[in-house]
Formats: sequence, structure tokens, C-alpha cells
Amino acid sequence: MSKILLIHGPNLNLLGTREPDVYGGESLADVNRRLEGLAQDANVSLVCHQENSELALLQLIHGALETGVDFIIFNPAAYTHTSVVLRDALAAVQIPFVEVHISNVHSREDFRRHSYFSDLSVGTISGFGTLSYDLAFRAAVSHLEKLNP
Ligand code: DQA
Repeated sequence: MSKILLIHGPNLNLLGTREPDVYGGESLADVNRRLEGLAQDANVSLVCHQENSELALLQLIHGALETGVDFIIFNPAAYTHTSVVLRDALAAVQIPFVEVHISNVHSREDFRRHSYFSDLSVGTISGFGTLSYDLAFRAAVSHLEKLNP
């Protein structure tokens, strides 16, 4: 059974109450629950984590190699725009990943237009609200099916 790791970056624990006009009213627990349902239907294993610190996210990425994760769905949140550390970690483990954003990072402040991850990712999904995660999940499953037909 393929293993997908869903990683949410900083401040996403506040989803549902944080700037609801930008990020919507759904909580992180709601998102994870929905994705777990999609994983069951697709017969893949899904593990969800949220961390606020760069170190904890780094450790999750390193740990993914040891636990045989096949694919990562990653919302690096603010670290998208700042973290060479997390970029290097993903380059090091060589696990394919999709970069996800709830908001459209290209229609906001200029500093959100640059990502340290997009060029390494299989693809980027941005701007569909929390539906972005569902779309990323579909993309992950499709990628895994291509790898193991
Ligand atoms: C975000 C966009 C980032 O710019 C921001 O720092 C976040 C969330 C998104 O999901 O839209 O925290 O990654």
C-alpha cells in the first residue's frame, strides 16, 4: 500500500479562525478528516502532521525516508518564501511532493510570489481554498499510479 505524508506548516493549526476571509472557515482537523476519507477510498495510507517550527518540519522530512513514505503533500506556509533548510531537506530525501497553498499566493503580496519549493515539486496547487488539499491528494494518487501501474 502506498504511503502519503501530509505536512502542514506554521500557523495552519489555526485554520478556521485565522484570517477566514483568506483561508476559509474549515479547521485543520476537518481537512485531515476529509483527506483520510479520500485515502481510505483510494486504498493508500495517509499520515497527517502539522508543525510550527522549521526544525520539527525538517525532522518530519528526514523521518519520511526512514518510514518509507512514497509521496509528500506539503503546505510549507510561510516557510515557502524563506526556507532553504526545508528545500534542501526535500532535495536530499528525493521523495516526490506536491506543494499546496490554500490561498492564491500569486494574487497577494509580492513576497509570496517566490517559493523555495516549486521548482523541486511535481507540481503546485494554489488558490482553491481548502479544496487545494483534495486536488493535491488526487495529484499524489495519480503520480503514484504512474510509478506503480
Ligand atoms: C499559505 C500561503 C503562505 O503565503 C502563508 O504564509 C501561509 C499559508 C496558503 O496555504 O495559502 O501561511 O501557504
